[in-house]
Amino acid sequence: MAERSTITIASLLRLKERAEKITCVTSYDASFTRLLEEAGVEVLLVGDSLGMVVQGHESTLPVTMADMIYHASCVARAGQSALRIVDMPFMSYSGVDQALDNAARLMREAGAHMVKLEGGRAVAARVRALAEHGIPVCAHLGLTPQAVHQLGGYRVQARDAESAQRLQEDAGLLQEAGASALVLECIPAGLARTVSESLRIPTIGIGAGPDCDGQVLVLYDLLGITPGKKPSFSHNFLADSDDIPAAVRAFVGAVKGGRFPSPEHSFA
Ligand code: KIV
Repeated sequence: MAERSTITIASLLRLKERAEKITCVTSYDASFTRLLEEAGVEVLLVGDSLGMVVQGHESTLPVTMADMIYHASCVARAGQSALRIVDMPFMSYSGVDQALDNAARLMREAGAHMVKLEGGRAVAARVRALAEHGIPVCAHLGLTPQAVHQLGGYRVQARDAESAQRLQEDAGLLQEAGASALVLECIPAGLARTVSESLRIPTIGIGAGPDCDGQVLVLYDLLGITPGKKPSFSHNFLADSDDIPAAVRAFVGAVKGGRFPSPEHSFA
C-alpha cells in the first residue's frame, strides 16, 4: 500500500494562498484512482456516496466501516500522488472514543491521509480530539447527506439569514477545533464565498458556487452515468470528450481555469 502522497495539507494551503483551485473527485477503486491521478486530480475522496453509486442504496446511511475500509484500501493500493480523504460512515463517529477508534482504522488499515465527517458545532469536540491525535480532518457543512432524513431531503441549505449565520459560525468553530479542510455542499454561492474568504483552511465546494478554494464532483456525475435525476450543480464532462481520461482532464482544466462551476451550476 502506498504510504505517502505528493499532495499534502501544506500543498492545499499553498494552493489556497496562490488562489489556484484545488481539484477533487471521488474514487472507489484502483483503476479509477490511477486514471484520476494521471489526469492531475489532486485530492481523491473515498466518499460514502459509494453507498448510492456503487451499492445502489437510496442514501449513504447503510454504508459500513467494512465498506469504507474495503474501498479505501483499493484506492490506497493504486494511489501515488493525490491526497486521500476517506469518509467516516454514518454513526461511526457518534462519540470521541468511537471516532478515534474508527478514524485510526481508516488510516492504519485503509491508507487514509485524512478523514471526513459531517456536522457543525456538535462534532467540534470530536474534530478536536482527532486533530490532537494527529489525524487530519475534513469537515463537511451545508447539505450533509447522512442527515438526509432530518433535513427532509437533498435540498439546498442555509438559504435564510439565520441558518447562513449559523453555518458561518460552525465553519469558524471547526477550523478552530483543528479541521484541515472543509467541504461545503449545496449552499448559496455568496455564502460559500464569504466562508471561504474568512477561513485559513481550504474549502472544497459541491453545489456551492465558483468561489470555494476547490471543487469536488462525484465521479459518476462527472462521467454522466449517475442513475436517475442528475444533480443540477454537476456537469457531464464525458459528453464533450473522446474518452474517460479526456473527460477527467476537462474537469481539471475547467476547475483550474475557473470555468466550472458556472452560475448555472450554482445556487443563489
Ligand atoms: O460522499 C461523497 O461523495 C461526498 C461528496 C458529495 C462531497 O461527501
